[in-house]
This record gives sequence, C-alpha cells and structure tokens, in this order.
Amino acid sequence: MSIPLPPNSTIGIVGGGQLGRRAARAAARRGSRCHARPPAPEAPASQVAAATTLGSYDDPAVLRAFASQVDVITFEFENINAEGLDLLAKLRPVRPSPAALRISQFRLAEKSFLNGIGVPTAPWAAVDSVEALQAAVRRIGMPAVLKTARLGYDGKGQVTISSEDEIPEAFATLNPKPLILEGFIDFTCEISVIVARGSDGQMSAFDTMENAHRDHILNLTYAPARVTAEVAAAAQNIARRVAEGLDLVGLLAVEMFVTSDGRVLANEIAPRPHNSGHWTIDACPASQFEMHIRAVAGLPLPPATRHSDAVMKNLVGPEELALWPQIVATPGLIAHHYGKHEARPGRKMGHVTRLFPLGGLPGPFGIADALGPLGAAVPEGKQD
Ligand SMILES: Nc1ncnc2c1ncn2[C@@H]1O[C@H](COP(=O)(O)OP(=O)(O)O)[C@@H](O)[C@H]1O
Ligand SMILES: [Mg+2]
Repeated sequence: MSIPLPPNSTIGIVGGGQLGRRAARAAARRGSRCHARPPAPEAPASQVAAATTLGSYDDPAVLRAFASQVDVITFEFENINAEGLDLLAKLRPVRPSPAALRISQFRLAEKSFLNGIGVPTAPWAAVDSVEALQAAVRRIGMPAVLKTARLGYDGKGQVTISSEDEIPEAFATLNPKPLILEGFIDFTCEISVIVARGSDGQMSAFDTMENAHRDHILNLTYAPARVTAEVAAAAQNIARRVAEGLDLVGLLAVEMFVTSDGRVLANEIAPRPHNSGHWTIDACPASQFEMHIRAVAGLPLPPATRHSDAVMKNLVGPEELALWPQIVATPGLIAHHYGKHEARPGRKMGHVTRLFPLGGLPGPFGIADALGPLGAAVPEGKQD
C-alpha cells in the first residue's frame, strides 16, 4: 500500500453499523471506496458501502477473502474477534492496531492501561467469584457498579450494588465472567474527547464535549462542554496521553466523569468514531469520520475546528423514532436515520443535530425549544 492512500483505493471496515455507514460516506468524499464486513445482510454500513463481505468475525476463509479486496483495514465496533483482527493484520495494515482493540474491549485491561499511564479512573477491582466481590465491595464501598469486563455497551451488562444482600444475585446475573467492580462516581457531568492521530504522531482533537445519558444510553451531547477551562484542558490532556500510550493510528474517543471537586476521571476508551462525536458531521469542516478515514489512509489531519456550537440528540427506540415525521418537518433540525429496520427499545435509530452560532450554545430552555418535537428530552428544559 502506498501512503498516503491514493483516491480509488479501498478501505475495509470490520463491522457494519451506523459508524461504518458514516465512515463509508466520508471515504467516498476522498474518492476511496469502503468494503464493509458485517455479520448479517442489510447492515447500515452495507447500504452505502461500495462492497460487503458477509460472514462471522472469525472465519479465516472469509477474513482472507475480505483482506484480498482492500488496501487498509479499520473497524467501527469493538465487539469483534481480536484473533480475527490479528489474522487480518498479517495480510494488510490494520489501523488502529489489534493491541489497541484488545485494551478497549476488556475493561480490566483498559483500567490497568489507563492507571499505568497515570490517567485516573474510578477505584476498581477484578471480580471472578462471590467472595472476591464481597471483598471488593468492602474495599471500594457502596454504591458500586458491577460490570461485565467484556461485551457491554449502552449500559448492558451492568448493575449497581447498594447493599451487601444484592451481591450474590448481582454476581450470578452478569455474564460472561470475569467482572469488574467500580466505585460509583457521583459525577457533576460526563464529558468526552475525540482525538485523531496519524502514523507520524500528529494529533487533532475536537473540543471537549458534554454527554447526558438516559437509562445508560447517550441521550444528548453538547458541544462544547459546559465546564471550566481547567476541566476541558484536563480532558484534552487525558485523550492525547491515551492516544500516545496506545501508539494509536486512527481515531479514539475517551469518555470521562467530572467530579464535584473538579477532577476528571477516565471511564472508557473507544478506538473508533464515537456517538458523542456525531455533531461534528454538521458543525465541523472535517468531521470525526473524515478524521478517522484520513488517519487510517495516512492523509494529513486538519485542525479539529467547528464553525458552530451544536447539540446532538440521539433517537432511541420506537418512541423517539415515532417522532421522525415531525422531526424532518422542523426547520433547523438536521436529521440522520441509520437505515436500521427494526426499532427495538433502547436501540439507536438515528440522531438529530441542531447548530448554534459559535459561542452561542443556549441554556436548557433554549436548547429544548430549539429541539422542537424532541425538546421534552432535555433535562431541566422540559416544557409542560
Ligand atoms: N463507575 C460509575 N459511576 C457512575 N456512573 C457510571 C459508572 N460506570 C458507568 N456509569 C454510567 O453508565 C454509563 C455507561 O457505562 P459505561 O462504562 O460507559 O459502559 P458502556 O457505555 O459500555 O455501556 C456511563 O456513561 C455512566 O453514565
Ligand atoms: Mg460508555
């Protein structure tokens, strides 16, 4: 492969979800094709990618056929088979590396890595038995959050423990083992930073943004985050350290908690485009997907500037998708639908971005008003 990847080259994307769908569109802008690798037909990415190879994430024959048709490989989803990615890495450059994927897909490795590079997190303990959980609860205190170390997303695979009586059932319910126990962080807000890093070590990071979850699923992202300059800078610093620590080539999101005394604790890392960066599609000359594709293709990374402030509202499940006709009829709402066929409860079906002049992000009432039919979803901004 020549670097930078020339136009008319092909980028393979392992996965087939909405993040791959967007990455494929960004690649098309640069004259590249994307080849998706979803496990099932009709995936959101396949609907816009130039080609698709179907099949399981660990079938060597499928992986070899896929690699032979692409110039470079990336992924848009963490719950893929890391050994499969190792095999792909023998055949084509894989960016980010399988090593970065392995850290992000195993919460115990992730927390060890973060603490190892001096990035603070919630207190945590590995848990592989009821006795270990009891000891961990005694050490960390309650409430505490018990999570599966692998395969969780959107709050799946998590329970909060508030009393010792809940320990046996909490341990039994969550699978696969091992589990991780984390101290419950009584955060003032959640924030994230998305940073792209090239193979030359050059980095471009979007401003720190703020995330509000509902039922553990991202509900709203505010860009920029409504935090002090010190907190925003601490978050930027953490994201850059993580990208360097992973020797990342590609794009990375770091989710963080801000505590009431202004500390910034890392929660999760995702070496791929991230839901909290969707506003960048509409508010930035180069979106997170453009940055991802550029980093993977070895192209220079432009500054991660925005021309507008923005609020992103996820459309989750059948209830919010039912508002689609009103959403597309509301001027100023930029509506994105992922082409998923079935609107199951808790499933992310699309999102809406609303832009504001730079520096002009309004307060909750103004945001609720600007979101029109979705305004009731803004905390403290409810209009009765
Ligand atoms: N230790 C914690 N303390 C407080 N809230 C937490 C903690 N861990 C997770 N949460 C809440 O649950 C959400 C989802 O958890 P997270 O660890 O990001 O898993 P995932 O996004 O993979 O489901 C977080 O964004 C946060 O709102
Ligand atoms: Mg998360």
